[in-house]
Amino acid sequence: MNKPSLMTKHHGWMAKLLHWSTAGLLGYGYLTGVDSVSQLADPELFSTEITFAVCLGLVFLFRFFWMRWFNGSTRLTSDAPNWERVLSKVAHHGIYVGVAMIVLSGLAIAYGYATPALSGLFVSAMTAFHEFSLAVTAILLLSHVIGALWHKLVRKDGIWESMLPNWHRRS
Ligand code: HEM
Repeated sequence: MNKPSLMTKHHGWMAKLLHWSTAGLLGYGYLTGVDSVSQLADPELFSTEITFAVCLGLVFLFRFFWMRWFNGSTRLTSDAPNWERVLSKVAHHGIYVGVAMIVLSGLAIAYGYATPALSGLFVSAMTAFHEFSLAVTAILLLSHVIGALWHKLVRKDGIWESMLPNWHRRS
């Protein structure tokens, strides 16, 4: 494949910090999340899960606006094909929507669990929605990593490097 005529600019340091810290938070959430609603009977776990969900949601919200208002959301160059633009937009926006669904359905489960009138059908429906959101977001993340590898190994256009530390920058 031909090399693109323009090379990409790095993302800003704050964008990189937010990208990798939210990636770590989400990874931690996937690895340590509760396995069944009955575990919420432990009051310490219950409040830890709520705190984690609120923090994850707020950090992603901050990141979303930081990227839109200050950093710019992609470093794809103007000569990138249209299909790459569309797919990256779908994956990036999809990840934000997926994380919002995970957080909101998680908080809804906690609310339903703590409200006797809502336990039952409401908690079951929210649990099913939470599991669906986790699965869809995982697929989007996998597609995102495959897309990043596409840029690294095939396009070689600097997109992969744009989210890594810029060791070679001269001051
Ligand atoms: C939980 C893990 C991850 C999440 C939630 C995530 C999410 C995102 C999102 C939403 C963007 C678009 C910029 C923005 O609006 O913030 C982005 C950009 C980017 N990500 Fe990730 N990402 C993750 C992991 C990774 C990994 C593992 C890699 C590399 C292997 C990677 C490489 C990149 C690159 C190179 C960009 C810049 C793309 C561009 O400039 O168009 N990401 N990421």
